[in-house]
Amino acid sequence: EKGGYEHFMLKEIHEQPKAILDTYRGRLLRDQAIIKMAGVEDNMKKFLNANRIIIVACGTSWHAGLVAEYIFEDLARIPVEVEYASEFRYRNPVIREDDILIAISQSGETADTLAAIKMAKEKGAFVFGVCNVVGSSIARETDAGAYTHAGPEIGVASTKAFTTQITVLALMALRLSRAKGSISSSDYRRHLLELEMIPGKIEKALESDAHIKYIADIYKDAPNCLYLGRGYNFPVALEGALKLKEISYIHAEGYPAAEMKHGPIALIDENMPVVVIATKKGHYEKVVSNIQEIKSRKGKIIAVVTEGDVQVKEIADHVIEIPETLEPLTPLLTTIPLQLLSYHIAVLLDKNVDQPRNLAKSVTVE
Ligand code: M6R
Repeated sequence: EKGGYEHFMLKEIHEQPKAILDTYRGRLLRDQAIIKMAGVEDNMKKFLNANRIIIVACGTSWHAGLVAEYIFEDLARIPVEVEYASEFRYRNPVIREDDILIAISQSGETADTLAAIKMAKEKGAFVFGVCNVVGSSIARETDAGAYTHAGPEIGVASTKAFTTQITVLALMALRLSRAKGSISSSDYRRHLLELEMIPGKIEKALESDAHIKYIADIYKDAPNCLYLGRGYNFPVALEGALKLKEISYIHAEGYPAAEMKHGPIALIDENMPVVVIATKKGHYEKVVSNIQEIKSRKGKIIAVVTEGDVQVKEIADHVIEIPETLEPLTPLLTTIPLQLLSYHIAVLLDKNVDQPRNLAKSVTVE
């Protein structure tokens, strides 16, 4: 059942190229330059007239929501807010009839997300679901939706659910950008082409596995770890930190790299590993100077860089390369080494990777 892999998590990490292909199969018709998503098409007027989109989710799905916020605002120019479902449902939020709520949930059973949906529906908002589990409570409760088609995710630590959620949300944002005219035809086509190349590029990223295991062995006994990213890769930093804490029980924090100087930089010394996403697009020069700030305080840098990088290679302690892609799609690639890093650290520490202590696959209690 684990398909020859030692753990479900590792199997699911390796399944991502196929999972993403399954997510866009039948939806991304590149030859015709069309994105077909019934849930979006049937409600196109609502999407185009929306005052704003509110995304609600928990955990990893919330991180996918943050990536979506950047993509929707960047490409489709629709205002987006992302909220923890557990906060949203209890804080008397302003919800209007021309708001669209997008609920993201792998399991489709997360109690807080479900409750947030019910509340938004009562206030007259249109609710769209992005779920993996077909026929789940959230899939049934929402007005429309799009499945991720990632296949069953067994490992408690979410991996392929995250990347397929981002894929669905990117497809939606691209479809809406085209409908709104906020993206040029050539840019739109470039994104479709790049999306089609993502599975192959993930395969390439997975080839760093042995190198990542080597890095994991060096840092497995660190009590703390920081993850930094900017722009599209800020949510990836949060996700990398969550992965590490939930399966290896190492305390980890994700931060937008520029926030370091507002506090966390005080933590840096020679014992602090700092994972930095420093890909070519996306504020590269700024991230390089953030890396220099950490290096001058003797922090250890593990950097995720674009193939062929020279600048970061010179200053970082370790680099992990990923193929180049368009900036909005980089999270689909930068996430891969972070998943592998936490996986290997947890295995080396002999932790129960697929069923970490205190956690359940779906959180059906408040
Ligand atoms: O099933 P959901 O996507 O609604 O679950 C949300 C979170 O409980 C989930 O992502 C959790 O944070 C994972 N353990 C993260 O790996």
